[in-house]
Amino acid sequence: MDTRKPITTAKLRKMKLDHTPIAVVTAYDYPSARLAEEAGVDVILVGDSLGNVVLGYESTVPVTLDDMLYHTRAVTRAVRSSFVVTDMPFMTYHGSLDATLKGAARLMQEGLAKAVKLEGGAEIAPAVKALVQAGIPVMAHIGLTPQSIHQIGGYKVHGKTNDQAERLMADALALEEAGAFAIVLELVTEQLAAEVTARLSIPTIGIGAGAGCDGQVLVFHDVLGYGSDIVPKRFVKAYASVGDTIRTAIGQYVSEVKGRQFPAAEHAFRMSDEEAGRLYGQGSGGNDHEQ
Ligand code: KIV
Repeated sequence: MDTRKPITTAKLRKMKLDHTPIAVVTAYDYPSARLAEEAGVDVILVGDSLGNVVLGYESTVPVTLDDMLYHTRAVTRAVRSSFVVTDMPFMTYHGSLDATLKGAARLMQEGLAKAVKLEGGAEIAPAVKALVQAGIPVMAHIGLTPQSIHQIGGYKVHGKTNDQAERLMADALALEEAGAFAIVLELVTEQLAAEVTARLSIPTIGIGAGAGCDGQVLVFHDVLGYGSDIVPKRFVKAYASVGDTIRTAIGQYVSEVKGRQFPAAEHAFRMSDEEAGRLYGQGSGGNDHEQ
């Protein structure tokens, strides 16, 4: 049972000031969220990465607001003290501010998320500002932004040149200015990520951005080696091989069913021999009931 006080945006800011690293992991359903919370995770992100790791899409682009709501509800049912942030999916915050606010409001009211995450730089600052003014905490996300994968043209590291670094720093400052409470830096060179972390007063959460960020985030399935076709990524550390464990266990189950070893006597339920005898004529010398 998790006895921590619920994590808040103020607590996350304090963790940055105290140099206490912030541990973030994604989760997409009740058991994954419960296990993450029991393990002491500070922030649970219902990432739209669920498109890849749960729904089997090639990117996060097909993920809808209804998908996010469905998974967010399952996660928030499980969580008591970790801070739950959920992704606003592709193209749900690029139209009118009214539509953006309505989408975020659903994630908070129906999904019970505590905050939303938006991908993009200075160009989405007006949306961030509108959400924050409406009382919705926003986590920003820059560097590699998977929802723009078809525009970026691949999973590239950001901040390798001075130009890129200046642009990313300007984006980070604009998002902080717009009121974001934290910012994810994905696939950003470690020197730049450390510099952004030093310049901002809000926490930075890195993924593939080195050790200089205020916190780290990884995808649940990556941490666990959980999936049938997980491709190892350089910036990920897998702490288990759950996929192998599951494959082996299910393989053993299949083999025991086919070999008639499962179910064994202890997995079955019996009526008394007397009762069975009355029904089917077993245990009392024949088909009594037919005579
Ligand atoms: O969708 C997601 O899981 C994310 C994290 C990788 C930061 O955005």
